Amino acid sequence: MSEAFTPDDPVQGEPVFRKCSSRHAIEAGRTRPNGPNLLGVFGRQAGTADYSFGDSLVEVGEAGPVWTPETMGVYLEVRQHSSRRRLARRACET
Ligand code: HEM
Repeated sequence: MSEAFTPDDPVQGEPVFRKCSSRHAIEAGRTRPNGPNLLGVFGRQAGTADYSFGDSLVEVGEAGPVWTPETMGVYLEVRQHSSRRRLARRACET
């Protein structure tokens, strides 16, 4: 999430969140089939929301970090790189 954003600015956040909304709800009690609800995510320990997370995120959470704009930025960057790497590897295999 390279573009700078201020977490408490919904007007600025809305277009950014559109990229997440296919997988993430932010309304209380709402869920998406394939992603955790991100309501109140800042300050929450990673991998502890009501969702069946993959082991890696649960392990990250058990190590203690909570979500902040900074830690989320790192997570999304890493995820983007790993999916790009996967795509590149698949492209090489074909
Ligand atoms: C920029 C938009 C997005 C943001 C800010 C975002 C943020 C997050 C965060 C913070 C978590 C961890 C939640 C927690 O530990 O409580 C998460 C998990 C997850 N996100 Fe997103 N996400 C975004 C877009 C997406 C997209 C586009 C997809 C799918 C195409 C996706 C799929 C998932 C999945 C499957 C998990 C659970 C991962 C696991 O179990 O290890 N997210 N996301």
